[in-house]
Amino acid sequence: MSAAEGSATWAILVAAGSGRRLGGDRPKAFAALAGRPLLAESLERLELSPWVDAIVVVAPPGWEEPTILLAEELAAAKVVSVVAGGATRAESVRCGLREVDGEALVVLVHDAARPLLDDGVIERLLAPLAEGWDGAVPALPVADTVKRVRDSQVVETVDRADLVAAQTPQAFRPDALRAAYALDLTGATDCAALVERNGGRVRVVEGDPRLLKVTTRADLDHVARLLAG
Ligand code: CTP
Ligand code: MG
Repeated sequence: MSAAEGSATWAILVAAGSGRRLGGDRPKAFAALAGRPLLAESLERLELSPWVDAIVVVAPPGWEEPTILLAEELAAAKVVSVVAGGATRAESVRCGLREVDGEALVVLVHDAARPLLDDGVIERLLAPLAEGWDGAVPALPVADTVKRVRDSQVVETVDRADLVAAQTPQAFRPDALRAAYALDLTGATDCAALVERNGGRVRVVEGDPRLLKVTTRADLDHVARLLAG
């Protein structure tokens, strides 16, 4: 019997991307943030969260061993499985989902590229699921004016009043997530998109500006400053 049996809330931490836009000599999950791999920050926060029972880490292919060592260094006892990811984020989530116990009640999917994960966000996500929603995503209002452009020409200025920018973690009922990931994954940039496409009802909750995604070197510096302050 594994420690994960009977665990209610599972987290899939996707860290398998290469970090092409960040650059450097290693995958983004292993870029240095405050003296340790970027991945350590979100992994430690999931480990310490009272809302999370079991964790699956999806590692860059070939980096499973350093990922297991990192989990050991952090004494992250909730880590049940470390698996290699796929060619796209969606394929990596699919790899992680295979490791989630059939009895799980909630699956959270989080990007390792968003290190500053706060427990308050997780708590906000769980409430809609308890009310029967298929999924919940944290989101922030869009501050800039948004334009649709073709060949550098503005085609349309989109009304931003009903637009939000989605973050992770995203929370789902396992059956809704599994059904969505059994289908075509093409074009999905987050998990909710696949659940929506499959007819699932997804609720938005208040996001967190600190949950910004590390894409470029400037983002990494920004997160390092937030962490230090
Ligand atoms: N991800 C993944 N597997 C992939 C691609 C992305 O697990 N094949 C994960 C990343 O590790 C990251 C999250 O999905 O935690 C969001 O992806 P992104 O920020 O685009 O990271 P990368 O794909 O690594 O960066 P880039 O697009 O610049 O190469
Ligand atoms: Mg990417």
